[in-house]
Amino acid sequence: MKYKGLIVKGVIAIVVLLVAIQFIPFGKDHSNPPVVAEPPWDTPQTREMYVRACADCHSNETKWPWYSNFAPASWMITLDINKGREVFNTSEWDAENNMGGWIAKQVELGEMPPAKYLLPHPEARFTDEETAIFVKGLQETFGH
Ligand code: HEC
Repeated sequence: MKYKGLIVKGVIAIVVLLVAIQFIPFGKDHSNPPVVAEPPWDTPQTREMYVRACADCHSNETKWPWYSNFAPASWMITLDINKGREVFNTSEWDAENNMGGWIAKQVELGEMPPAKYLLPHPEARFTDEETAIFVKGLQETFGH
Protein backbone atom coordinates (compact mmCIF):
# COMPACT_ATOMS: atom_id res chain seq x y z
CA MET A 1 0.00 0.00 0.00
CA LYS A 2 3.07 2.19 0.39
CA TYR A 3 3.30 2.52 -3.39
CA LYS A 4 -0.29 3.62 -3.77
CA GLY A 5 0.40 6.53 -1.41
CA LEU A 6 3.43 7.51 -3.47
CA ILE A 7 1.45 7.48 -6.70
CA VAL A 8 -1.28 9.66 -5.19
CA LYS A 9 1.37 12.13 -3.96
CA GLY A 10 2.99 12.12 -7.39
CA VAL A 11 -0.28 12.85 -9.16
CA ILE A 12 -1.08 15.66 -6.72
CA ALA A 13 2.38 17.15 -7.25
CA ILE A 14 1.92 17.11 -11.05
CA VAL A 15 -1.52 18.74 -10.82
CA VAL A 16 -0.17 21.45 -8.48
CA LEU A 17 2.72 22.07 -10.87
CA LEU A 18 0.41 22.28 -13.91
CA VAL A 19 -1.79 24.80 -12.12
CA ALA A 20 1.20 26.82 -10.88
CA ILE A 21 2.79 27.21 -14.33
CA GLN A 22 -0.43 28.78 -15.67
CA PHE A 23 0.54 31.92 -13.72
CA ILE A 24 3.78 32.44 -15.64
CA PRO A 25 3.10 35.38 -17.98
CA PHE A 26 5.21 34.21 -20.97
CA GLY A 27 3.10 32.89 -23.87
CA LYS A 28 -0.10 34.68 -22.92
CA ASP A 29 0.18 37.59 -25.37
CA HIS A 30 -1.69 36.45 -28.48
CA SER A 31 -2.11 39.86 -30.07
CA ASN A 32 -1.13 39.76 -33.73
CA PRO A 33 0.93 42.73 -34.98
CA PRO A 34 -0.60 44.57 -37.98
CA VAL A 35 -0.12 43.42 -41.56
CA VAL A 36 2.01 46.10 -43.22
CA ALA A 37 3.12 44.57 -46.53
CA GLU A 38 2.55 41.30 -48.38
CA PRO A 39 4.65 39.57 -51.01
CA PRO A 40 3.46 39.76 -54.63
CA TRP A 41 1.63 36.40 -54.64
CA ASP A 42 1.62 34.84 -58.12
CA THR A 43 -1.98 33.57 -57.69
CA PRO A 44 -4.66 33.71 -54.96
CA GLN A 45 -4.32 29.91 -54.78
CA THR A 46 -0.69 30.10 -53.66
CA ARG A 47 -1.68 32.54 -50.94
CA GLU A 48 -4.56 30.30 -49.87
CA MET A 49 -2.27 27.26 -49.59
CA TYR A 50 0.27 29.36 -47.71
CA VAL A 51 -2.44 30.45 -45.23
CA ARG A 52 -3.35 26.80 -44.72
CA ALA A 53 0.18 25.55 -44.11
CA CYS A 54 2.55 28.38 -43.19
CA ALA A 55 0.85 31.62 -42.11
CA ASP A 56 0.30 30.60 -38.48
CA CYS A 57 4.08 30.81 -37.90
CA HIS A 58 5.38 33.03 -40.72
CA SER A 59 2.88 35.90 -40.72
CA ASN A 60 1.06 38.22 -38.32
CA GLU A 61 -2.25 36.50 -39.09
CA THR A 62 -1.76 33.69 -36.61
CA LYS A 63 -4.82 31.68 -35.63
CA TRP A 64 -4.06 30.87 -32.01
CA PRO A 65 -5.59 27.48 -31.13
CA TRP A 66 -7.44 27.01 -27.81
CA TYR A 67 -4.62 24.92 -26.38
CA SER A 68 -2.25 27.86 -26.88
CA ASN A 69 -3.89 29.31 -23.73
CA PHE A 70 -2.41 26.61 -21.52
CA ALA A 71 1.17 26.18 -20.38
CA PRO A 72 3.36 24.43 -21.35
CA ALA A 73 1.78 24.28 -24.87
CA SER A 74 1.52 28.11 -24.86
CA TRP A 75 5.30 28.41 -24.34
CA MET A 76 6.23 26.02 -27.14
CA ILE A 77 3.78 27.61 -29.59
CA THR A 78 4.88 31.16 -28.74
CA LEU A 79 8.56 30.25 -29.14
CA ASP A 80 7.84 28.67 -32.55
CA ILE A 81 5.85 31.65 -33.76
CA ASN A 82 8.45 34.17 -32.55
CA LYS A 83 11.17 32.20 -34.31
CA GLY A 84 9.10 31.62 -37.44
CA ARG A 85 8.26 35.33 -37.80
CA GLU A 86 11.90 36.21 -37.24
CA VAL A 87 13.06 33.91 -40.06
CA PHE A 88 10.62 35.48 -42.51
CA ASN A 89 7.28 37.19 -42.11
CA THR A 90 4.92 37.64 -45.06
CA SER A 91 2.94 40.31 -43.16
CA GLU A 92 6.00 42.56 -42.94
CA TRP A 93 7.20 41.75 -46.41
CA ASP A 94 10.48 43.21 -47.46
CA ALA A 95 11.98 41.97 -50.73
CA GLU A 96 15.49 42.38 -49.29
CA ASN A 97 14.82 39.78 -46.62
CA ASN A 98 13.31 37.33 -49.10
CA MET A 99 14.73 33.85 -48.62
CA GLY A 100 13.99 33.18 -52.32
CA GLY A 101 14.05 29.59 -53.56
CA TRP A 102 14.80 28.40 -50.03
CA ILE A 103 11.13 28.82 -49.11
CA ALA A 104 9.88 26.45 -51.84
CA LYS A 105 12.81 24.12 -51.10
CA GLN A 106 11.68 23.58 -47.49
CA VAL A 107 8.29 22.40 -48.75
CA GLU A 108 9.83 20.25 -51.47
CA LEU A 109 12.08 18.58 -48.89
CA GLY A 110 9.15 18.05 -46.54
CA GLU A 111 10.87 20.13 -43.82
CA MET A 112 8.04 22.67 -43.61
CA PRO A 113 5.46 22.78 -42.18
CA PRO A 114 6.99 21.00 -39.17
CA ALA A 115 5.66 17.47 -38.52
CA LYS A 116 4.36 18.45 -35.07
CA TYR A 117 2.18 21.12 -36.75
CA LEU A 118 0.56 18.62 -39.13
CA LEU A 119 -0.94 16.48 -36.38
CA PRO A 120 -3.40 19.11 -35.05
CA HIS A 121 -3.67 20.82 -38.50
CA PRO A 122 -4.91 18.28 -41.08
CA GLU A 123 -5.79 21.16 -43.45
CA ALA A 124 -2.03 21.75 -43.86
CA ARG A 125 -1.49 18.22 -45.21
CA PHE A 126 -1.17 18.26 -48.99
CA THR A 127 -1.23 15.43 -51.48
CA ASP A 128 1.84 15.01 -53.71
CA GLU A 129 -0.06 16.75 -56.48
CA GLU A 130 -1.00 19.70 -54.27
CA THR A 131 2.57 19.93 -52.97
CA ALA A 132 3.87 20.18 -56.55
CA ILE A 133 1.41 23.01 -57.29
CA PHE A 134 2.31 24.78 -54.04
CA VAL A 135 6.08 24.48 -54.62
CA LYS A 136 5.66 25.97 -58.10
CA GLY A 137 3.57 28.84 -56.70
CA LEU A 138 6.17 29.55 -54.01
CA GLN A 139 8.90 29.59 -56.66
CA GLU A 140 6.91 32.02 -58.82
CA THR A 141 6.30 34.27 -55.81
CA PHE A 142 9.62 34.17 -53.96
CA GLY A 143 12.09 32.96 -56.58
CA HIS A 144 13.69 29.70 -57.60
C1 HEC B 1 4.55 25.55 -36.39
C2 HEC B 1 5.13 26.74 -36.94
C3 HEC B 1 5.62 26.72 -38.37
C4 HEC B 1 4.90 26.46 -39.51
C5 HEC B 1 3.43 26.10 -39.64
C6 HEC B 1 5.82 26.65 -40.61
N1 HEC B 1 7.05 27.01 -40.15
FE1 HEC B 1 8.70 27.44 -41.25
N2 HEC B 1 9.81 27.69 -39.57
C7 HEC B 1 9.32 27.63 -38.28
C8 HEC B 1 10.40 27.85 -37.34
C9 HEC B 1 10.28 27.85 -35.82
C10 HEC B 1 11.56 28.04 -38.11
C11 HEC B 1 12.99 28.33 -37.65
C12 HEC B 1 13.65 27.16 -37.02
C13 HEC B 1 13.70 25.95 -37.88
O1 HEC B 1 14.32 25.99 -38.97
O2 HEC B 1 13.12 24.94 -37.47
C14 HEC B 1 11.16 27.93 -39.50
C15 HEC B 1 12.02 28.05 -40.58
C16 HEC B 1 11.62 28.13 -41.90
C17 HEC B 1 12.50 28.42 -43.01
C18 HEC B 1 14.00 28.64 -42.91
C19 HEC B 1 14.63 27.28 -42.82
C20 HEC B 1 16.12 27.29 -42.67
O3 HEC B 1 16.60 26.27 -42.14
O4 HEC B 1 16.79 28.24 -43.08
C21 HEC B 1 11.73 28.41 -44.14
C22 HEC B 1 12.21 28.68 -45.57
C23 HEC B 1 10.38 28.08 -43.74
N3 HEC B 1 10.33 27.92 -42.37
C24 HEC B 1 9.31 27.95 -44.60
C25 HEC B 1 8.04 27.53 -44.22
C26 HEC B 1 6.96 27.28 -45.17
C27 HEC B 1 7.04 27.49 -46.67
C28 HEC B 1 5.90 26.84 -44.42
C29 HEC B 1 4.56 26.36 -44.93
C30 HEC B 1 4.60 25.25 -45.85
C31 HEC B 1 6.30 26.84 -43.02
N4 HEC B 1 7.61 27.25 -42.94
C32 HEC B 1 5.48 26.49 -41.96
C33 HEC B 1 8.00 27.40 -37.92
C34 HEC B 1 6.98 27.06 -38.79
